[in-house]
Amino acid sequence: MAKVWSKRFDNTLNPFIQKFNASISFDRKLILEDLECSIAHAKMLGKTHVLSSSETLQIINGLETIKVEFLEGKFLPSPPSEDIHYCIEEKLISLIGDTGKKLHTGRSRNDQIATDIRLWLRKEIDNIDSLITDLQKSLLKIAKSNLYTLIPGYTHMQRAQPLSLAHHLLAYIEMFSRDRERFKEVRSRVNTCPLGAAALAGTKIKIDRKFTASELGFEKIYKNSIDAVSDRDFCIEFVSASALLMSHLSKISEEIILWVTDEFSFAKLTDKCATGSSLMPQKKNPDVPELIRGKTGRVYGHLQALLTMVKGVPLAYNKDFQEDKEPLFDTAETISSCITAMTILINEGIEFNIRNLSDSVENDFSNATDLADYLVGKNVPFRTAYQVVGEIVKYCLDRKLLLKNLKTEEFKKFHSDFEDDVFTDLEPLNVVKSRTSEGGTAFAQVEKELNNWQKKLLL
Ligand code: ARG
Repeated sequence: MAKVWSKRFDNTLNPFIQKFNASISFDRKLILEDLECSIAHAKMLGKTHVLSSSETLQIINGLETIKVEFLEGKFLPSPPSEDIHYCIEEKLISLIGDTGKKLHTGRSRNDQIATDIRLWLRKEIDNIDSLITDLQKSLLKIAKSNLYTLIPGYTHMQRAQPLSLAHHLLAYIEMFSRDRERFKEVRSRVNTCPLGAAALAGTKIKIDRKFTASELGFEKIYKNSIDAVSDRDFCIEFVSASALLMSHLSKISEEIILWVTDEFSFAKLTDKCATGSSLMPQKKNPDVPELIRGKTGRVYGHLQALLTMVKGVPLAYNKDFQEDKEPLFDTAETISSCITAMTILINEGIEFNIRNLSDSVENDFSNATDLADYLVGKNVPFRTAYQVVGEIVKYCLDRKLLLKNLKTEEFKKFHSDFEDDVFTDLEPLNVVKSRTSEGGTAFAQVEKELNNWQKKLLL
């Protein structure tokens, strides 16, 4: 078994503890970032003449060889190396000999891991941004073809007021755009370089932190070496942004699950994204949105785990931080796959039942507010109008009628200001058309928003 520690230690680790302590099984995911980080560090040591140019070259070539071997599947980081950093250092020494032992000059695994995760997360965030953009584009595409499709709008899961389906879908585009903004803000803090903080205090070796930071594409460097190695805020911020994103994906999932029930029948699942039952031959199950809804809990769990992990941890690096990786990796993988699955579902997994949607808004009381607003238009105070319409709704319910089934004379019994034109205001299309306030569901407003999004998403 490899003995990595200094001569201070007489004995090797207990094998169980060796395994318990190790992170190689999961931090090997960071191999490319760790190599990139080491190459930048070696270049910098060459530039500051801590390493000779031939040593620098040997180290860089050695690291490049490891990269090629890894990409060709000839080198797999594995135990007994404790972690990816030792693993690469050991491999480098085996490839180039003693010069390899100079790579770790002026750095620590503490600033190294802090740099690696940031490099990895920055790439993940960029990928996630483009996945969310694709999802927004898919939603916009259906929204554009459903400007005039009506859908009942709900509050408290009770029919409230009819909406343009496009308006409903645009609400999700807005949510996802806030998610993108949040990830962008997190990215700006991820993009700060801790390398050169060494173990916690900085180093007396001549290093150039700005050089490594710029080699690695970081915007700025940490101002305080202690903060640099102990900051895990960015991990929590990322998982927190992911948790909110999952809440949005879960919300749209839940709506789709409801829409495709026999009870709602607002949409149906195509065979591409639906699954059958092993027992009931008639079933077509919405497994995809159900899985997304289910996976939301897992991301919330990771957020809780990370928040608890950092709680009460004193400065500076503590081994607790090794526990940041698995929640972080799993969060990125989970959200990426959920966004992709939702995009496929929107693109080819769901078909709206336009007929049922428009029928549904014809046969309810979701135009009751418009009846009250009609009276408001005749200068009746809103609260009075509201009470009058409440009475009319009760009258209709007792007789199993809808508002549109009443005669003008019946309306007049409740308020003398009702005239024949009241029926125009009750038609669902007119109800939607009339909600012209900024951000409202009126077709003209929604069309404006569709055009704005079209420009923003460069469709
Ligand atoms: N595997 C460690 C981690 O993930 C790397 C840093 C170890 N540093 C140390 N001082 N033991 O956090």
